[in-house]
Amino acid sequence: MKKEISRRNFIKGTAALTAGAALMGLAGCAEEKTPAPQEAPKFKHVKVAVFSPTEGTKNAAAMLAAKFSDDVEFADLTNATSRTEEVTFAAEDLAIVAAPSYGGQIPMIEGLFTNLKGDNTPCVVVCAFGNRAAENVYANIASIVSKQGFVVVGAIGLVTPHVFASVAKAGHSRPNVDDNKIMTEFASKVMDKLNSGTVEAITIEGTPEVDFAKEISAAPKEFKAENCIQCGACAANCSTGAIDPQTLEIDETKCINCMRCSFVCEYNARSYDTAVKRDFIEGKLSAKKSVEYFI
Ligand SMILES: Cc1cc2nc3c(=O)[nH]c(=O)nc-3n(C[C@H](O)[C@H](O)[C@H](O)COP(=O)(O)O)c2cc1C
Repeated sequence: MKKEISRRNFIKGTAALTAGAALMGLAGCAEEKTPAPQEAPKFKHVKVAVFSPTEGTKNAAAMLAAKFSDDVEFADLTNATSRTEEVTFAAEDLAIVAAPSYGGQIPMIEGLFTNLKGDNTPCVVVCAFGNRAAENVYANIASIVSKQGFVVVGAIGLVTPHVFASVAKAGHSRPNVDDNKIMTEFASKVMDKLNSGTVEAITIEGTPEVDFAKEISAAPKEFKAENCIQCGACAANCSTGAIDPQTLEIDETKCINCMRCSFVCEYNARSYDTAVKRDFIEGKLSAKKSVEYFI
């Protein structure tokens, strides 16, 4: 598929330390000391649409977005209620659409990202994965957004801490300094491509459709009633609206095991028994995977 993109509006940027790098604890260590890949002029405005229950994807996407612009806006689509309104992108924007890999595909949420509306807007697809694999996530997102006014000009897979390995090694301390350099290199290549004036959408391999029947293994959920103060934060923040706000019971037919409830619970009432998964993850997934990108 070939799509024309008009010449974009760039502003000059510096190689200053990014907000994302600071977020990930990389302050002062990566780009300033070693000669990093050359930074391209930056975009005026970057808009990040992200689904990120435990914020690993959001942090990684923020780090990447700061490579493209000093003006970054977020449309956080994690809460069920946040996906009801249309989110529009201008032709001059750069869109970043980011999701985690759940069993090698985007989380099984009907209509995820379908509220995004582009205007022939260039788009970078991001997959955050817990050191196993991104697999079909790029194809899933690209298939959705390319029908909604976006031209996918690049895709990148960033390793983030695996939620089922709280103290295990999978994705621990990622993105790291090396990942940060690869992000800079990727962003520079995307900007060069867009600067050239005419851009072809990239071809992404993989299965575009999300398999809603797929069994995705997860750590068993735990609820400590004695710790719960009935504040309702878990229900209000649930990514799929699976928790009844009155009874706080979980509708298992809606739950995607994203761990959002445990992430927002301040009283340690919601948690997951990560022990079983942790053994598997530590055993099988401790070898560090690299950032991968497609352009
Ligand atoms: C249900 C579930 C399934 C997952 N499946 C995979 C997987 O197949 N491969 C992988 O590398 N990481 C997998 N992960 C790890 C996530 O991709 C990773 O932890 C991600 O950072 C979580 O995103 P978040 O922090 O933005 O919520 C899975 C996580 C969950 C909750």
